[in-house]
Amino acid sequence: MAEHKINTDNQHTEISQGSLSYAAVVAAAAALGGLLFGYDTAVISGAIGFLRSHFELNSMMTGWAASAALVGCIFGAMFAGTLSDRFGRKRIMMLAGGMFFISAVWSAIPYQLFDFIIARVVGGLGVGAASMLSPLYIAEISPAKMRGRLVSLNQFAIVGGMLVVYFVNTMIARQGGEMWNVQYGWRWMFGSEAVPAILFFGLLFLVPESPRWLTEAGKEKQARNILTRVGGSEHAKLELKEIKDTIAMESGSIWDLFKPGIRMALIIGAGLAILQQITGINIVLYYAPEIFKNAGLTAQSALSDTVIVGIVNLTFTVVAIAVVDKLGRKPLLLAASAGMGVSLLLLGRAIRLEQFEGPWVLLFVLTYVASFAVAMGPVVWVVISEIFPTKIRGRAMSVATVCLWTACFLVSVFFPYMLETFKGSVFWIYADVCGAAFLFVLLFVPETKGKSLEEIAKSWIGSD
Ligand code: GLC
Repeated sequence: MAEHKINTDNQHTEISQGSLSYAAVVAAAAALGGLLFGYDTAVISGAIGFLRSHFELNSMMTGWAASAALVGCIFGAMFAGTLSDRFGRKRIMMLAGGMFFISAVWSAIPYQLFDFIIARVVGGLGVGAASMLSPLYIAEISPAKMRGRLVSLNQFAIVGGMLVVYFVNTMIARQGGEMWNVQYGWRWMFGSEAVPAILFFGLLFLVPESPRWLTEAGKEKQARNILTRVGGSEHAKLELKEIKDTIAMESGSIWDLFKPGIRMALIIGAGLAILQQITGINIVLYYAPEIFKNAGLTAQSALSDTVIVGIVNLTFTVVAIAVVDKLGRKPLLLAASAGMGVSLLLLGRAIRLEQFEGPWVLLFVLTYVASFAVAMGPVVWVVISEIFPTKIRGRAMSVATVCLWTACFLVSVFFPYMLETFKGSVFWIYADVCGAAFLFVLLFVPETKGKSLEEIAKSWIGSD
């Protein structure tokens, strides 16, 4: 096995190449939680039209059917932290997998709208839980040097899940005419999620519990074994000592989050989570076909707009994976905020003044999505999974993730009104928010590249 020297900020640890691939495989299995997150949040877009006809929904009820899962997401994220601090990361990820499965089957069979909505809320609980647990688990098992890359893998899976479900929905819709789709097609669309749900649940049996959670739970021997598999015995020895020393300094009370020093981590985590959403990504993703249509661009090409946007999102997430541990979190977040802001300014101008031809609109949407994908998407999840201390990491990440989902919910509820009121200038409002995100990152976000979770935890002490 080839041996490589890994140089973190304050330690030189020998890590064997073969073991690192173990961390990558485990991270990939956990990232299936991300794939389900993407799948579940995007499945609705292909099904909503048929669902509306099936249940004869008015626009308000259609809105509820489409966003019921988001309510579940908020609660799923809220409870997953406490549960995972108490019962372990793996068990609660499995619980989320079970919820995805139940929701898939349940939302495929209902004959009443109420049943459907409840089934979607259950799926939302799974999404909310998985959205925070997969990155958190990956952060806790990864060696510092590759933590950014491995957590970003989860965002890659989210975007991949969105693309996969798009193709699955298209294939299902082709199986029959309008009548068949209104009666059965949408059921298959939701039911298809059972496949990745079973895969996620099954693979979780093969992954180990988080070594940091095990140490905190007093299961040091098991933790040492896992750390040894990840990075070799020398790595395990150093890492375990650091984890134990740091945990001994932590009280484990959630109220620590409001104490001087560590409260900065809370401000940064919640702030980034909210900014990721209020800089408008889900609006742009959702309205891209509409924006293109208004700009005179119809999907004449073989690939639809949704696929083009999805492929750009996926490709630039790969760029993030390649550079996040080299360039660091902060420069990427700054570049992303700037790129998104400038793209939105130009997009707003193009739409408002009807000055540019359609292709320019396409270009600005794509530069916006590419900028998002290079940091605001993956790196925000990386940072919120790594900045909190081990004893309260689950609960603290819950707080940040609840903020993220609540912001996501509010943005989708208010966007139609904002669009009606501000027309094309609505993108300028989002551009201003990108400016605010740039300043926030510049002033508050510390660089965490290459630091162990314990070094990051200690860095808050006495910092404000
Ligand atoms: C991030 C966001 C999510 C968004 C996705 C799009 O994961 O948290 O809201 O839909 O990126 O790529």
